[in-house]
Amino acid sequence: MTVIGKPVDRVDGRLKVTGVATYAAEFNQPNMAYAFPVRSTIAKGTVTAFDTAAAEKSAGVIAVLTHKNASRIKALNPGEQMKAGIIFLGEDLVPLQDNKVHYFGQFIALVVAETYEQARHATVLLKITYASEKHAIDLKSELQKGFKPTKLFGEEAQINPGKTADLIAASPHKIEHTYTTSTENHHPMEPHAAIAVWEGTDKLTLYDATQGVGVTRAIAAYFLNLKPENVRVISPYVGGGFGCKGAWFHIVLAAMAGQVTKRPIKLVITRQMMQTNVGRRGATIQKIALGTDHNGKLTAIRHHNETYTNLAQFFEPSGLQTAVLYEAPLREITYQVARLNIGTPTFMRAPGEAPGTFALESAMDEMAFEMKIDPLEFRVLNHAAADPIKKHPFSCDNLLECYSTGAEKFGWSNRRMQPRQTRNGKYLVGYGMATATYPAGRSSASARVQMTVKGEIKVMTAAADIGTGTYTVLAQTAADVLGVSVDRITVKIGDSSLPPAPIAGGSQTTASVHPAVLAACEMLREDLMKLAVADAKSKLNGRKAEEIAFANAKFFVKGDASMSDSYEGIMRRNGKVMMEACTTVTPASGVGLGTPVAPCMPVPTAPEENSDAKKYSFHSFGAQFAEVWVDEDFGTIRVRRMTSVQDVGRIMNEKTARSQIIGGVIFGLGAALMEATEYDHRWANPVTRSLADYHVPVNLDVPEIDVHFIGKPDPHISPIGARGIGEIGITGVSAAIANAVFNATGKRIRSLPLTMDKLL
Ligand code: MOS
Repeated sequence: MTVIGKPVDRVDGRLKVTGVATYAAEFNQPNMAYAFPVRSTIAKGTVTAFDTAAAEKSAGVIAVLTHKNASRIKALNPGEQMKAGIIFLGEDLVPLQDNKVHYFGQFIALVVAETYEQARHATVLLKITYASEKHAIDLKSELQKGFKPTKLFGEEAQINPGKTADLIAASPHKIEHTYTTSTENHHPMEPHAAIAVWEGTDKLTLYDATQGVGVTRAIAAYFLNLKPENVRVISPYVGGGFGCKGAWFHIVLAAMAGQVTKRPIKLVITRQMMQTNVGRRGATIQKIALGTDHNGKLTAIRHHNETYTNLAQFFEPSGLQTAVLYEAPLREITYQVARLNIGTPTFMRAPGEAPGTFALESAMDEMAFEMKIDPLEFRVLNHAAADPIKKHPFSCDNLLECYSTGAEKFGWSNRRMQPRQTRNGKYLVGYGMATATYPAGRSSASARVQMTVKGEIKVMTAAADIGTGTYTVLAQTAADVLGVSVDRITVKIGDSSLPPAPIAGGSQTTASVHPAVLAACEMLREDLMKLAVADAKSKLNGRKAEEIAFANAKFFVKGDASMSDSYEGIMRRNGKVMMEACTTVTPASGVGLGTPVAPCMPVPTAPEENSDAKKYSFHSFGAQFAEVWVDEDFGTIRVRRMTSVQDVGRIMNEKTARSQIIGGVIFGLGAALMEATEYDHRWANPVTRSLADYHVPVNLDVPEIDVHFIGKPDPHISPIGARGIGEIGITGVSAAIANAVFNATGKRIRSLPLTMDKLL
């Protein structure tokens, strides 16, 4: 391998920075009309009347759709949806089918007009009468009426309920604390957007901003009663997707508007709608209890998780990391979920682990302080040698090396155990650390590769590049396997007509799609070599495959570069203008994924007996270190630097990998210091409606982030040994920062975000 691993520039970078890359809302169509959704202004109840007269008369308006006149689409049916390949459906609420309102901001009507402005204007002319009911908005008070989920991604949700009480009570050292995290909203740079183009009444093309064209196609086909092969979803570039761009019903709304108006329809979700209609990370209340013996060995871990959902089953699975980290004779992980009148929660970068590591890793820091053990030492002492619940070994675990590398790079030895020991001018300086973890997934994927006689190579697969580097890594793969330079490769992704690939969720794209592209390129190379070997005019005629090497678009005899034959020569002599290979790779003997290991994972195929999936537990690990400076007069916290060491298997591209971790750490920094969706309990509306009041980190908030990789290939996940990298970067970050704040100030803040009011 000459290109894999190298910090190759993004092959799509120039297209993006020059504005040439086309995003969903930019695929303008002739005769296109614009749809603008109308949102409810109550959180629970019914719409009793729509007066659409004024809106309909408004300039440019073509149609007003409400539950009264909208076409009937297929009802929810989880079993049937599963069979249709629908995962990642945003919400369990089919739009415009009845007059019920379940949350503030729910789409209750749609105005279609000649221009965006005309459509938007007409929405304010609609007169809507409601019958309100009392809404549920307060998590704490609604939990009692909530439910105890039995299943979490196909496994038992409640682990050992009630069983740790005696052990913890009998432990010589114990702590018990409650940690809370806020509701957070997705704000990728590109909001959701779709353009729906009908051809007749049974063929639909959708340009959509999606993490998975296959899943989006399945959803559109299912709910609109179309044959999947008659729906094409195109999404070549995605301006960020962190779990929010599964599929939401805006695509179906756009298609419904197209059916009525017989026009192509553009529907763009506004920044305000991002707060209400396309998912969020639900707030959590997490109670953690730890017990240890006299030597600091954990005796039991208890983690009770409380959160909410709406109508759907999805809830923030904040206990996930607690099932994976640390040795302990017994652990208890339980959930209680309320039903609130807030739009459905959804996947958001490391769903579960992001808020869950805040609680667990804060508690670990508290226990270490209680015992006067260095918090890093405390983690080493309790490191899990194998999966604590499944008891399998990990496929590849270098967590201890993450700790030691991080400690060295960060300068952990300069940390003082007692808080308030280090000052710089008026600032109190503190160091904190935490463990990072995220499951490693892999699904089946397909790829097609074509080579023209001119040496142009096209790699095709219905994968997504949500900003992660998929284009680049797949180009590197093909370049290596075919022995050509990266600039000869064109990667075509983000189109459901291409060979299927999994959704870009669960940090699994590289682990899943790389093996497919590798296999297709190898098939093509072998076909080409066979032509040469069989050709009397080739210098490779009659040679054995083992004798032949390849580079620079040529085959040659190992040790004698003069005995060569170019790909072009071989194809010309054989009269081939183009050659291609296509294959599907199912991780049957690798990670069979018998049970979904990550929330964003597609429906798994059953693993074979004795497959690696049954023998190993697949996880990535890391260590996060933070230095904070706290101004006690103002209660402000500034993160001065962070070190992030990640054990994610082989690194495919040093540059894009590093960017992934930096992005994840910044995501974690946002959750730690500023991100919170606040609701006015009187109306259940989010008062943080835009980026002016829903704060995310800006450049000045982001310190130097020092990223290191262990880089050892995972021998069990795939031939190349690369695990996912998209989500782990966020995990542990908020705990490392909160722990550093404690080390600086002696104040333990158990509630995110760490705003100044909590510090003062
Ligand atoms: Mo996801 S939260 O896009 O794996």
